Formats: sequence, C-alpha cells, structure tokens
Amino acid sequence: MSPKKIIGILAWREGKRFGEPEYLRRLVHAGHLLGAEIFVFSHQDVFASEKKIRGFVPKESGGWESSWFAWPQIVIDRYRRRVPEYMKLRHSGLFDFANSPFSKKWRVTQLLAKDARVKRWIPETYVYAPATLKTMLVKHPILYVKPGNGTGGKSILKVAERGSKYQLSGRDKNYARKTASLSDPEEVGKWVKRWVNEQRIRDGNFLLQQGLDLELVPDRVTDVRLLIQKDKKGEWRVTGCAVRVGEKGSSTSNLHGGGKALPFHLLVSRRFGEERAQKILQECHHMAHQVAMVLEEHFGRMMEFGLDIGVDVQGKTWLIEVNPKPGREVFQQMGALDLYAEAICRPVQYACYLIEEKTKRLTKEVELSSRRRR
Ligand SMILES: Nc1ncnc2c1ncn2[C@@H]1O[C@H](COP(=O)(O)OP(=O)(O)O)[C@@H](O)[C@H]1O
Ligand SMILES: [Mg+2]
Repeated sequence: MSPKKIIGILAWREGKRFGEPEYLRRLVHAGHLLGAEIFVFSHQDVFASEKKIRGFVPKESGGWESSWFAWPQIVIDRYRRRVPEYMKLRHSGLFDFANSPFSKKWRVTQLLAKDARVKRWIPETYVYAPATLKTMLVKHPILYVKPGNGTGGKSILKVAERGSKYQLSGRDKNYARKTASLSDPEEVGKWVKRWVNEQRIRDGNFLLQQGLDLELVPDRVTDVRLLIQKDKKGEWRVTGCAVRVGEKGSSTSNLHGGGKALPFHLLVSRRFGEERAQKILQECHHMAHQVAMVLEEHFGRMMEFGLDIGVDVQGKTWLIEVNPKPGREVFQQMGALDLYAEAICRPVQYACYLIEEKTKRLTKEVELSSRRRR
C-alpha cells in the first residue's frame, strides 16, 4: 500500500475560530474519503526550524482538535486576508502550493485587456481620475466605480444615465445602500469623488469600468458565477455555473449583499430561448478555459477560479471579475448539491494528483542517479 498523501490547507485562524469553518470542515472530510492525511493550519502553526507543523481537524461533535502533523507534500492556500504574517509565509518557499499567489483586480483586468485571446470579453476599464470619469460618462450610459482591491460587492457604485438624470446607486463598505439622483455631470463628479474618498479600502485605488446592462430581470442586476477547477488529472474543467440575481435596485448581485442564486437555464433560456442560451453557455465555458490558460501562464500554477460573467440584455458575454479563492455557496443555495459536493472534492483530488506526479518525478530522479552511480 502506498503511504498516505499529506495535504495541508492554509487558512486564517484566531484561537479555534477559522475563516470559513464549514467549507474547511468539508474539505478535510473530502480528503479523508480519498484516504489522505489532511489538516488545516494557519501562519502561527508553522515551526520551520524544527520542521514541525500544528494542524487542525474537525471533531465529530463540532469544533476542532489540534495535533502535530508531518510536513505537507502539497498545500492548498485558502487564506483570504492579506495580513503580513500570511504574506511572509506565502513567499517563504517552505511549502509547495497547489495555487500560486494572485494579483489585485486592477492588474488582472489590465493583463486580460491586453491579451488577444481574451480581450474581447473585458469591459473598458481605467484607474479612477476625475477627468477620466468625465469622458467615461459621455461614452457609456452605465458606469461602475469600484475598488481595485475589493471583494464581496463592497464599495461598488453604479452610475446610470436615465433621461435627463444620472441615477447613482451604491453599496458601501457595510453593504448599506446609498442612492442619489443628479442632473448635472459636475455634481456626479463631486459625488463620485466623495465616494472614492469615503469608501476606499486601505490604501487601494478605484476603477472606472464600462457598465453593462445586466437587468435580465427588471430593476435587478443579474450575472453568472462560473466555477472552473483543475480535476483529478490536472486538467481545467468547468464544474458548473449559476445565475445570481441581486436585490431590487441594488448595484451588485453578490450573495453577501442579498443576491439569490438560480439555475443558469431558468433565467437565460427564459430570456433568450433555449438555443441561444446554449450558445451563451458555450461561450462562458470557452471564456473560462481561455482566461484560466492566460492567467496560469502569467501567475504560475493555479487550482480554480470563480468567474463573474455578465450576460447583457443583448446576450453578449463579458468578464466582470476573476476570483482566485472563490466560494461555492451558489451551488448550495440553488439546491445543486451534487455540484456543491464536486466543487469541494476537486481541490483535494487535484492536490492528490500533484502529490502523485511529484512522487513519480522523485522516483525517476532517484533511479537515474543510482544508474549513474553504477
Ligand atoms: N462593469 C460592470 N457592469 C455591470 N455590473 C457590474 C460591473 N462591475 C461590477 N458589477 C456588479 O457588481 C458585482 C460586484 O463586482 P465585482 O467586480 O465582482 O466586485 P467584488 O470583488 O466586490 O465581487 C458584480 O458581480 C456585478 O453584479
Ligand atoms: Mg465579484
């Protein structure tokens, strides 16, 4: 029997409180079913000079128990806070990570907008500057102002031209709704300037992005969340997708901001017909594969991406955002429990695949060097 594969999951913790306890619990469980030794750890659990690592596994009765583990052969990075201790560990070279570090929204958008394979899906985007806002307001009937380092639909403002007015609707840092109706572009300029100053996340910048008309349902922003993951053979595969429907009047569709997940076909087929919906879905898949390929060429080995895709009222497909550590709640929320289970299983299967490949490589190297010695 081959020895157990050892997989670590790097995540944020404080005491026995973890960032995403339910997901981590399920990951560990999936690993056990695959026969792996698997545990969650955080930056404070690594004792590099002694090659010791403290790991946590969920208890049947709830909660977590810790013990010492052997050094992991592969680590899945699920740390979702950019604290200095994590950044240091991430770049220490101590572990072999399944997924490479990724960049902020602005750099990723810039990179994709320049690549001939994917640029047709990227909305026009610039770093916020008052003068750029003016020209973008003239050019696009809808405009989005969003933080270049944001997540979860926070600090996002939509500016839409309606008749002789500009309707502004935003979600601030606490998801609170903020709205205004202004008639003068100068006023809009001032309002946005204030937004940028008040809603800035740490020292981040803001982006101005061509807004897409995503009201597949009147007065609601709807978009597609697609999950693409590496499978047990190390190949990219679309696990599934869902449509997220935002709250009435909200500028975003994010689940944390009250959005609801529905099956793709329910909404897209109803709007565009079966045949067209199938084509749109194919394009989403094609986009996901191309984007994963381009990003992996740039950032190094990756494991999964959650894509926010806009399908506008004309049926044109756009890429809004790429998430390197995506949630899976859309599948759970729309009742696709098989997809939800698969989405949790795949990272662990991929980690097992990486360990097998590594073991094969090492065995080959040992054989070669012993042959040379003979
Ligand atoms: N350019 C845009 N056009 C239309 N809707 C957008 C645009 N940018 C963002 N949104 C809406 O806001 C949501 C959040 O934006 P996103 O860029 O994904 O930021 P976050 O990282 O906070 O999720 C999107 O899922 C979408 O519903
Ligand atoms: Mg998003």
